[in-house]
Amino acid sequence: LEELVDSWDGEATVMRRARSTDALITIGVHSTALGPAAGGCRMRTYRSSAAAVEDAHRLATAMTSKLAVCGLPFGGGKAVLAVPSIPEGDARRDLLLELGELVESLGGLYITAPDMNTSDVDMDVVAERTSHVFCRTAESGGCGNPAPATAAGVEAGLRAAIAHVFGSDDLDGRRVLVQGVGAVGERLARRLTDDGADVVVCDIDEQRADHLARRIGVRAIPAAAWLDEECDVFAPCAAGGILDEGTIPRLRCRLVAGAANNQLRERADADRLAARGITWVPDYVLNSGGVLKGVGMELLHWPPEEVANRLQQVGEDVASLLRRADTEGQTPLAVAETLASDRIDAARATRV
Ligand code: PHE
Repeated sequence: LEELVDSWDGEATVMRRARSTDALITIGVHSTALGPAAGGCRMRTYRSSAAAVEDAHRLATAMTSKLAVCGLPFGGGKAVLAVPSIPEGDARRDLLLELGELVESLGGLYITAPDMNTSDVDMDVVAERTSHVFCRTAESGGCGNPAPATAAGVEAGLRAAIAHVFGSDDLDGRRVLVQGVGAVGERLARRLTDDGADVVVCDIDEQRADHLARRIGVRAIPAAAWLDEECDVFAPCAAGGILDEGTIPRLRCRLVAGAANNQLRERADADRLAARGITWVPDYVLNSGGVLKGVGMELLHWPPEEVANRLQQVGEDVASLLRRADTEGQTPLAVAETLASDRIDAARATRV
């Protein structure tokens, strides 16, 4: 744990043992260079407390890049609720209230939002203790669940990447493997199927994948079989860290583009993908739809048309990023990092 804290370049790590449930709450504030740190609240099980803290750090770091690339005046942060199992009912409510208290105690340094296993309904509970929360339900005055917007942005970016790699953005018959059919993955699978793609789904919750597959008429494969499935596009929409030294040599696709945060285990994995001739779209560029909707509607007061335009713009952003990577002979990751650090440096330079 000490090494984790020392090796991270973030601004703050806040930890609290929940009173109500057997949970550890960690908030990572990576950077406030562009503004308050914004980022979702992830609820899941971890193999250790250290793994939870590491995830909070890595996810917060990605949020800094995401918000910078979007050109939004926010820094990056994330909350991780490490639980022995996903709580429901009163236990869930109590845990969310405690998160709200912790967020409130930071006085606006960090603003929370939905992420894996949390929703707009959960944010209404968090909002009972703090105003520093995005994406409450529409009934409570929030923008609602961000997942549909994330999926729409991912689809726009995915189409642009498909056009870049295959020469046409026609999805008809294109085989896309969607890994993880949670709030975003399920919607992405539906959208792609509606557009004529040949979608294959998998999920660690295999029943969930089977149900969806039956409902929308696609094929489900066992979670462990994702590396054996030949496809045009692999769309990771589950947990991160799936692309590494061990898995990259086994990929059977030409394009990797999905909604999951932190798909690479380490930076060098971007080079490993490039060396295999596989195009990888940096996750934080592709999955910014939720942030665009949440921040756009609730703080910048964008009308619905502006939100829709910005989600489509993800496609143009991905296209120009991939073109630039090609012309400059760099990985898409290197180009995205440059975009993010240019914005952060510019903001630092104009400060007194
Ligand atoms: N889960 C979202 C993400 O990873 C977090 C988020 C959504 C933050 C909406 C702000 C507003 O990008």
